[in-house]
Amino acid sequence: MVADLPTGFWSGWVIVLTCVSLATLVWIVLSVYFAPPDSKSTHGEIDHDPVWDTDLREGTSAPPLWWFWMLLGALVFSLGYLMLYPGLGSFEGLLNWSQGKRLVSSYENYEESFDARRAEIAATSLSELQGNTALMETADRIFRRECSACHGADGRGQAALFPNLLDVDWQWGGSPEQIEQTLRGGRNASMPAWEASLGEEKTRDVANYLLNFSDRGHAGRTVYEQNCAACHGVDGTGNVFLGAPNLADNTWLYGGDIDSILATLRQGRAGKMPAFDEQRLDAAQLKLIIAKLAR
Ligand code: HEC
Ligand code: HEC
Repeated sequence: MVADLPTGFWSGWVIVLTCVSLATLVWIVLSVYFAPPDSKSTHGEIDHDPVWDTDLREGTSAPPLWWFWMLLGALVFSLGYLMLYPGLGSFEGLLNWSQGKRLVSSYENYEESFDARRAEIAATSLSELQGNTALMETADRIFRRECSACHGADGRGQAALFPNLLDVDWQWGGSPEQIEQTLRGGRNASMPAWEASLGEEKTRDVANYLLNFSDRGHAGRTVYEQNCAACHGVDGTGNVFLGAPNLADNTWLYGGDIDSILATLRQGRAGKMPAFDEQRLDAAQLKLIIAKLAR
């Protein structure tokens, strides 16, 4: 609060007011205990003090002396506190303490408390990690938090837009290095739209050929070899460097019925996997995720 106030003028006022009220407090306490004993009688008021119940006289004697020591202690404490911690205007205190700094240092402690776990994960092989149930549960939690919105809670993909990550079919490769590259760098797939260049008939031919990939005599086969094999391979097994999926394996990202395939060919596809930098997934979290996905 005080740190938000403009320094200088207002801070000066806060300091003056704080000091004046402390001094007033000291003065009141001192005057209660150390007022000259006859100050009351000089005004001749002592006889006019009210009397209750015939002999209870309302007096003005000071409270017990241990109260005085308690109040003095509290005052000394306040002065000490105001010297050490922020409280007097924008004066930061001799200890240089602040809530913000405390937050930062407790966050650093929090981070440090995981350093040992991180080092342990870094030193463990993927197959050992895969055998460690507790760590794999951590991997599941990271996955649910960071990935499941797109890839589905169980990682089996969804909406014919986000790939299944638990099958054997990898567009960009399923080795630990390839998965790491997919996560750190993100992936941008680019499948061109075909209908404009091929025309309606050839588009249908090649779409139907994809449904009968083993039929070498199919009318769509030449269209495929001329236009598609460069990326998807002559045998249709795809190309992990381009993210061109295997078309011969009956696993489909965007749907394997004739209408879905035609839609893919007409409009093209541009799947985009976001990049996860160190801020979103640190090295240990990344390794756990890779252990979860790689086989
Ligand atoms: C420049 C390289 C390239 C060429 C040429 C190409 N493709 Fe693709 N194709 C891709 C990529 C990359 C993807 C993945 C798109 C994505 O993930 O968003 C893809 C995806 C597809 C899919 C969707 C697969 C699925 O699992 O849903 C089909 C079907 C397909 N291509 C058919 C064809 C056909 C037929 C041709 C030839 C007429 C062709 N492609 C030519 C790169 C290419
Ligand atoms: C915003 C949505 C989104 C999020 C979040 C997301 N992904 Fe993806 N991911 C995609 C899309 C879309 C693709 C397909 C890209 C393409 O078409 O080639 C993909 C592709 C992948 C692939 C490549 C699959 C293959 O067959 O090669 C892997 C591996 C992957 N994601 C893992 C993850 C992991 C792990 C996370 C969480 C840390 C994650 N993704 C978070 C959208 C997402």
